[in-house]
Amino acid sequence: MPFTAEDAQFMAQAIRLAERGMNSTHPNPRVGCVLVRDGAVVGEGWHEWAGGPHAEVLALRDAGDAARGATAYVSLEPCSHYGRTPPCVDGLVAAGVSRVIAAMTDPNPLVSGKGMEILAAADIETAVGLLEAEAKALNRGFCKRMATGMPWVTSKLAMSLDGRTALASGESRWITGPEARHDVHRLRARSSAILTGIGTVLADDPFLTARYSQPPLTDPLQKGEGIQGIAAERQPARVVVDSHFRLQPTAKLIAQPGRTLVLGLQTEAREAEKLRDAGAEIHLLPAGLDERVDLNAAMELLGQLEFNEVIVEAGATLNGELLRDGLVDEWVVYLAPCVLGDRGRGLFHLPDLERMSDRYEMNLKDVRRVGKDVRMILCK
Ligand SMILES: NC(=O)c1ccc[n+]([C@@H]2O[C@H](COP(=O)([O-])OP(=O)(O)OC[C@H]3O[C@@H](n4cnc5c(N)ncnc54)[C@H](OP(=O)(O)O)[C@@H]3O)[C@@H](O)[C@H]2O)c1
Ligand SMILES: [Zn+2]
Repeated sequence: MPFTAEDAQFMAQAIRLAERGMNSTHPNPRVGCVLVRDGAVVGEGWHEWAGGPHAEVLALRDAGDAARGATAYVSLEPCSHYGRTPPCVDGLVAAGVSRVIAAMTDPNPLVSGKGMEILAAADIETAVGLLEAEAKALNRGFCKRMATGMPWVTSKLAMSLDGRTALASGESRWITGPEARHDVHRLRARSSAILTGIGTVLADDPFLTARYSQPPLTDPLQKGEGIQGIAAERQPARVVVDSHFRLQPTAKLIAQPGRTLVLGLQTEAREAEKLRDAGAEIHLLPAGLDERVDLNAAMELLGQLEFNEVIVEAGATLNGELLRDGLVDEWVVYLAPCVLGDRGRGLFHLPDLERMSDRYEMNLKDVRRVGKDVRMILCK
């Protein structure tokens, strides 16, 4: 079935609805649904939080009897299995929709395509692939986790004009202006976790919370106390890689709302007790190089914990290692028009890089001005 311009317009609307769940659907995907009959929208819905109703259920509820004979535009293939809620395909069949268009199939290889098959078997016209690239981008973390078991990893770096991220003393706040920092809070808010290294925590004692105002939600969790509109339960988890559990129980990030995870070596379990007592979750991992936490194992753990998107906010040591291990999908680099001098620290600690042919190359995806700074988005 070829898609029409009208189809594209309604699917774009479903994707825009899905985007409203940007900061709250973790660990579920962001999904939107629009029901259209005789060219008019008769129902809309979007998934807001895990355990809450799915987009299709809300759209069907919104449409009532008008759903009969309607076309459903969904940004993700409707589910066909019992999760925390009954399967959406059953609801669509029962409501008597005549056509279902999904932007993409379910990225979970175990169920991919099954929802559309059930709908087709119920004599509903089905099609997949409209605005697929946009739908995949919206759920890049969920898609990657379903395909590989690992989260989508974005590393945020703030640097001066001369490529320095901190002074030789370790002082680094603030290189960029308030607009760029606000943009980072937006990235934090959409992430399931913020990953940092013990070096950054010891140098800066950061809060690592998302402080970003978002439109009001009906999510019951949001009604409680929150930091600038983000409930404690919606704060991204803070994750510190700290091989020898050097983190102090009095570190500010442990006391912040939401979870704090400390990833250290199996051999150092005893050192971790004081952090567990302070409320941190301890995860013991094998050693990789240099008796440090194996970062591949760390990312696998974050995938098992159902983290879709992870933002790295660390120093040159952890960033260098993540780059070398190929564990970062995207770098968001803020370039501030200031000079920190040649004694400052760089972006990536890569002591073994000697020949030009060993260099790491990235592709520039986007460049724009954010306040007084420039933001670059780069990928592998
Ligand atoms: N401009 C920016 O965007 C920005 C952002 C964040 C931080 N910073 C600055 O960066 C500086 C801190 O940088 P840093 O390089 O010292 O610290 P870091 O990269 O944040 O943390 C490095 C530490 O992580 C631990 N780690 C555990 N497993 C690791 C592994 N497999 N590979 C690498 N590290 C591992 C290591 O300590 P153990 O061996 O003890 O585990 C290591 O020393 C501070 O001055 C901070 O202000 C700047
Ligand atoms: Zn569903």
